[in-house]
Amino acid sequence: MNQALLVLLLGIFYACGSVNSQHSNPELGAEVYKTYCVACHGSNGKLKLNNAPDLTVSKMTLEERIKNITEGGSMMPAFAEVISEEQISAVAVYLDELKESN
Ligand code: HEC
Repeated sequence: MNQALLVLLLGIFYACGSVNSQHSNPELGAEVYKTYCVACHGSNGKLKLNNAPDLTVSKMTLEERIKNITEGGSMMPAFAEVISEEQISAVAVYLDELKESN
């Protein structure tokens, strides 16, 4: 009886987890940004170190950002091998938040 309940609860947790990963994840995005992006872009996106552009004035669409972060640029590293696709889309979404807070 208890075991059946546990299995049911686990099932619900898994279901929620997979739904979550398809939506934006602001906390994950902020965490990825702090870990991998501040070195060049700064905590507010305006640092512009190593020729990095000011992210708060970037006109890129979400898709373009995801592609840019995945493949990198001339100075910016490609993050495809560094972080997961989920982390890449979370941080790409987070950049909108960064724009609004500046
Ligand atoms: C080593 C420095 C460096 C790091 C680390 C870095 N970037 Fe960049 N980023 C750049 C540079 C430089 C450019 C300009 C394109 C180029 O020359 O690579 C750029 C361009 C961009 C652009 C395009 C902006 C535009 O409108 O042109 C986005 C978006 C971006 N970076 C996001 C990120 C995110 C998100 C991270 C962390 C996952 C990150 N960058 C980490 C240096 C960096």
